Amino acid sequence: MRTVTHADDLHALVAGFRRDGRRIALVPTMGNLHAGHHSLIAIARMHADVVIASVFVNPTQFGPHEDFARYPRTPEADATGLAAHGCDVLFMPAVEEMYPFGAANMVSVSVPGLRDVLEGATRPGHFDGVASVVARLFNFAQPQIAVFGQKDYQQLLVIRRMTRDLGYPIQIVAAPIMREENGLAMSSRNRYLDAGEHERAAAIHVTLQAMRDGVLHSTLPLAAIQARAVERLKQAGLAPDYAVLRQADDLGEVLADRRDGLIALIAARSGSTRLIDNLICA
Ligand code: PAF
Repeated sequence: MRTVTHADDLHALVAGFRRDGRRIALVPTMGNLHAGHHSLIAIARMHADVVIASVFVNPTQFGPHEDFARYPRTPEADATGLAAHGCDVLFMPAVEEMYPFGAANMVSVSVPGLRDVLEGATRPGHFDGVASVVARLFNFAQPQIAVFGQKDYQQLLVIRRMTRDLGYPIQIVAAPIMREENGLAMSSRNRYLDAGEHERAAAIHVTLQAMRDGVLHSTLPLAAIQARAVERLKQAGLAPDYAVLRQADDLGEVLADRRDGLIALIAARSGSTRLIDNLICA
């Protein structure tokens, strides 16, 4: 595996791959990689001849009171894991490489509508930061395929919309959510949880399943299914931000209590750690 830190070096490598007609897949990450990320590499490998992974803790997607400074950084372990899982090129840029005029002065990419709801409502500016860094990564790596986890479902939709609207010739592949033994969706933030918080967090997946069952196998109104979900999360000792049913294609409010094409989404705190998860109700 080659490790590059400069965009120019990545460009040169990519130019060679493209000259040789090799198909390139990109897996953008913020590092602290776990089995969920490694599964993205495996999926990328199925679609391409060359797999490029990026590890960059992107400052522009963190709010002023979020965990940018303490976000876990494990570059050596990340590199070892990526090499072991078949990654060909690791791109690990510094902040100045991604934002030559400074993060505060970046040219921003913004996806209206999607950027403001659910996660965007509690994390203003978050999705502008995500879209802005992913656009740069697309420009540097020039992939034909890019793989993103379904766990960050709203992010996936933001990136799909940006890709289409800016005309990137890139296929966005969604990777299934990887779960721990108790059903908790794998996330770098799980390492903030102590044993009790980790156990309580299992209620998120259980609640999503109950929401999906409610949609598919009951006549309960959607509002009642959502209210029950909030109650269930509280009873499990979690602090829910939301437990909602939305249209899966655009996260729009569900019209007229329809039951098809829905997704259940939850954001809840276990202790001080905010976790998100989702389940498609098909
Ligand atoms: O999902 C993530 O890890 C990040 O939001 C991403 C897509 C790598 C952009 O920084």
